Amino acid sequence: MVRKKACIFISGYGSNLKSLIHRSRENNFPINVSLVISDKFNAKGILHAKKNSIPYLIVNTKKRNFENLILKKIKRYKISVIFLAGYMKIISKNFIFNFRNKIVNIHPSLLPKFKGLNTYQRILKQNEKQTGCTVHYVNEKLDSGRIILKKSFFIKKGDNEKILKKKTQKLEHKAFPEAVIKIYRYN
Ligand code: GAR
Repeated sequence: MVRKKACIFISGYGSNLKSLIHRSRENNFPINVSLVISDKFNAKGILHAKKNSIPYLIVNTKKRNFENLILKKIKRYKISVIFLAGYMKIISKNFIFNFRNKIVNIHPSLLPKFKGLNTYQRILKQNEKQTGCTVHYVNEKLDSGRIILKKSFFIKKGDNEKILKKKTQKLEHKAFPEAVIKIYRYN
């Protein structure tokens, strides 16, 4: 099996990046984490790239052409799939056009519920019984592309934002690698 070269986009802690790097050490995992892109120079997740000797790029999103710099790098590294692992910047239509059906995002809710930001806060306010995470393809509309998989759990009385985040991310670390396997199962 020839592994696909994947690029992971991050903005923060990088726990999902860590889990993908970890799983990619397995023989039959379909991707190799070949490049990491961060839009935040102080993102903790960059440490996972450094520790694992994975090339990384920190982009200055104040520059108008920053996405072109990303595209250039991605082409140079022959990247064939992009995973958004807590990347908090909206991706332009032009960028999506260049990577149609090759950008995958993880979101901390059961989509189509609770698209966008402040997810945990809104979930609690709505008194939801269940929540979880969703892995989906990225299209031009926010958190709306085709769903690859979801994982859910029941919210317990007393669960606050911090607890929901912890439980959701625990599921995410299983869901993202599982989605990667699902994507390439028949390819
Ligand atoms: C994850 O929980 C992911 O679902 C969320 O950011 C977190 C990043 O955590 N993404 C979004 O909210 C995107 N709308 P990590 O940096 O520890 O992987």
